[in-house]
Amino acid sequence: MDLTEQTIFEYAEAISAPESEILKQLTRETNLKVMNPIMLTGKIQGKILQFMSMMIQPETILEIGTYTGYSAICLAQGLKPAGKLHTIEKDPELEDICRKYIGLSGQENKIELHIGDALQIIPTLDMQFDLIFIDCDKEIYTAVYQMVFDKLKPGGYIFADNVLWHGKIFDEKQQNDKETKGIIDFNTFVKNDKRAEIFLLPFRDGLMIIKKR
Ligand SMILES: C[S@@+](CC[C@H](N)C(=O)[O-])C[C@H]1O[C@@H](n2cnc3c(N)ncnc32)[C@H](O)[C@@H]1O
Repeated sequence: MDLTEQTIFEYAEAISAPESEILKQLTRETNLKVMNPIMLTGKIQGKILQFMSMMIQPETILEIGTYTGYSAICLAQGLKPAGKLHTIEKDPELEDICRKYIGLSGQENKIELHIGDALQIIPTLDMQFDLIFIDCDKEIYTAVYQMVFDKLKPGGYIFADNVLWHGKIFDEKQQNDKETKGIIDFNTFVKNDKRAEIFLLPFRDGLMIIKKR
């Protein structure tokens, strides 16, 4: 039988624990009111992040690139009871929608939203993290990785999204833009980083999973 990826994906969505009403509402409002809704973490990737966070049971999570808050809400579900997720978003126009859905998710006391440029905010966060999710502009992935690495606890994890960059990394003719170059640089950098063990999960647009030795 020749199964298509779409059939498998639809079955996985149907059989998995359903998306919460809040996340459905967040997806609807993002699609209606916000630019580039393609940036939203979808239902299945949201579940992957939620379940991996539940397996790690972090005390502290750092997210770079909040957008409208979907992935922050998913990741926060794995936090230990007194745990905290810090999420950084540079676009102030997204603040209201983020705060609205963080509030509706009932995780207001667990999620701290920082509005501003991650490259300026990260150095001000005086704490160590168990889990870091990088999902911001692709050209700064390596800079962000280098900046956060010392803030990651030994044995902690970094997840980085979109490391296949819509397949553009495979086509030499499409590698001239700064985002594609940024992703190629990042993938090469982490592959050669002796401080880390990495695994590229070839799902959706590619999720890099990095464990600090
Ligand atoms: C792909 S979206 C994030 C999607 C979100 N994690 C989710 O799953 O719904 C990328 C976001 O990163 C933000 N961003 C990009 N560069 C940034 C930076 N230097 N500092 C903070 N946020 C940044 C963008 O404004 C955008 O909202």
